[in-house]
Amino acid sequence: MNQGLGSAGDLAKVKKSLGRLRAEISRHNYLYYVLDSPEISDAAYDALMRELKQLEAAYPQFVTPDSPTQRVGAAPVEAFGVVEHPLPLLSLGNAFSQEELLAWYSRISKIVGGQQFNFACEHKIDGLAVALTYVNGQLAVGATRGDGFRGEDITQNLRTIRSIPLSVSEEAPSRFEVRGEVFLPKAGFNKLNRERAEEGLPLFANPRNAAAGSVRQLDPRITAKRPLDIYVYMLGYAEGKATPPTHWETLEYLGSLGFKVSPNNRLLDTIIEVEDFYNTWLERRESLPYEADGIVVKINQLDLQLKLGNVGHEPRWAIAYKFPPIQGTTVLKEIKISVGRTGTLNPYAVLEPVSVGGVTIKQAALHNEDDIRRKDIREGDTVIIQRAGEVIPQIIGAVVSKRTGKEKQFSLLEKLCARDKKCPACPVCGSEIVKPEAEVMYYCPNAACPAQVQQRLEHFASRGAMDIRGIGEQMSVLLIEKGLVRDFSDLYYLTKEQLARLERIGDKSANNIITAIENSKKRPLGRLIYALGIRHVGGETAEILTKEFFSLEALANASKEQLSSVPTIGPKIADSVTAFFKNEENIRIIKRLKDADVLPEEEVAKLEEQPLLGQEFVITGRLNRFTRQEAEAWIKALGGTAKSDVTSKTTYLVAGAEPGSKLGRAQALGIKQLTEDEFRRLLGKTA
Ligand code: IVH
Repeated sequence: MNQGLGSAGDLAKVKKSLGRLRAEISRHNYLYYVLDSPEISDAAYDALMRELKQLEAAYPQFVTPDSPTQRVGAAPVEAFGVVEHPLPLLSLGNAFSQEELLAWYSRISKIVGGQQFNFACEHKIDGLAVALTYVNGQLAVGATRGDGFRGEDITQNLRTIRSIPLSVSEEAPSRFEVRGEVFLPKAGFNKLNRERAEEGLPLFANPRNAAAGSVRQLDPRITAKRPLDIYVYMLGYAEGKATPPTHWETLEYLGSLGFKVSPNNRLLDTIIEVEDFYNTWLERRESLPYEADGIVVKINQLDLQLKLGNVGHEPRWAIAYKFPPIQGTTVLKEIKISVGRTGTLNPYAVLEPVSVGGVTIKQAALHNEDDIRRKDIREGDTVIIQRAGEVIPQIIGAVVSKRTGKEKQFSLLEKLCARDKKCPACPVCGSEIVKPEAEVMYYCPNAACPAQVQQRLEHFASRGAMDIRGIGEQMSVLLIEKGLVRDFSDLYYLTKEQLARLERIGDKSANNIITAIENSKKRPLGRLIYALGIRHVGGETAEILTKEFFSLEALANASKEQLSSVPTIGPKIADSVTAFFKNEENIRIIKRLKDADVLPEEEVAKLEEQPLLGQEFVITGRLNRFTRQEAEAWIKALGGTAKSDVTSKTTYLVAGAEPGSKLGRAQALGIKQLTEDEFRRLLGKTA
């Protein structure tokens, strides 16, 4: 089949197919990310995306900025531009008690006089405010609040958030601005911090900081990796169309345009109902998937909002009714140091157990030595701790007035010297510790350190990795203690008899564990790469590496240059990956995995249903980011064939630098040509 650029009629058909595909994918995006109710499976969605990517790769002239393929994250910028807000973004006054809420209510009732009004109540989500401007149906500018008058242009970053529509119906006003809160759900926050801890990076103190840090990345590809979300909460302004007269109807209207509006919003008639709404969520806030620090009460009638106006930066027509923080005080008994999977030495607080909001807290995370110094937290201090949902409890600070003078300042090095003459030493294995240049964390360099071995094993078997039920923390400790396992490859050589001999393990659970281990051999490659526990390679990076290298062998053989040429893979990750696969011990472990049939080679191809089936490729000239063998392996893996000569059966000629005579022949036959970037896109890679 000749896929060369055809007649005008053919092109019109292609354009129509592209339009149909995009509309369909956008609809599924909307169902999944905005309404949380997908209609099709992830695999079916991926297939549609692949179809679109391939068609766009073949016809790059038809790629539009609002195509679902254009959310991956643009190239990094040096600095953000400045956006002047046509209408300032205000902040909110606070009420910290029922009295303060009622005082606000009487103030506004007086100003409003006899006119009837009601209240729109929403959660006050702890994220960051953004203003999205749409011009002729397209997302044109996305900005931070900044000082309320001028914010930063973070359009490229906001485009990566799937619940923000890139375009809206032509029925929408010709120019309008929507405001909302971008946030990182608690689960995403915890995962991000876990990965950062493993990678030795400073942790985010709360989901708000994490969301702000993610959105204000100069490299949008990093933003694209964070599971950010949005709820819109008001219309800034709109031109060229009448908009609804109340806040509630405006939210409904925004919902109908495709924006994500919180399902927890309520329209209420009386201030008593507002109080009830507050109390309900005060009790249930921990069950929310995001951090809420209160509710926002807004007068529903927009004409009254106008009449009420602002005082300084704060509108009179709305108020934030804040939840009290879930805090408690207790004594910090000791600062201990744990050894992480990659050898990081992490300080944590051992607390006098205390019940905070119904949960007993015995430990709290302390990020690193600098953080402890900055907050001036000392052993023996009475400290204020705060918890939020499943977020790990934090120490806010010390109650200085309670100090007796016996409190002890923390020094990591001193602590690590106390127990051993050889110092500073790892608290578990006694090895001398190291601090790589330009890193904040100290490490235990001994890969055989029992703490590291145990955590690597636990990580390998964890849910996001090989998902082996039955191998949790206790089991990994036990297996190592009994000498049955020295590294995770040993799992695949365990016998039922060995397990059944352990205390507390019956025949049945031994059987279950062996089955779980056996089943884990089939996990996709991305999971295995993540499971290996390579420093700086979290779940997302593992997925990117899988898409790029396709087999563990190719990844193991990749050079630093090849690795760093992949978007979002920096030199630090590249160094760590190459070092990992050069290490003798790791080579031995991977060989043992392979011998036990663990390697899920070509997984991706199987999953991707061979999208290049029936297509013939010929390559000419030099490719920059593939060797010839790699390119051909990719084509084969995705179901296509790679040939050396151009014939009328050739589907594509991939033309690299300094192409040979094949180019002329392909032109004569009217064979479609692909540049290296187009070819990469066709393979589903980022160009
Ligand atoms: S309305 C003039 N609604 O709270 C009205 N704000 O302290 C201003 N926020 O900067 C905003 N959830 O980042 C509004 N449902 C909600 C909100 C909300 C969170 C944040 C927003 C704003 C800050 C004001």
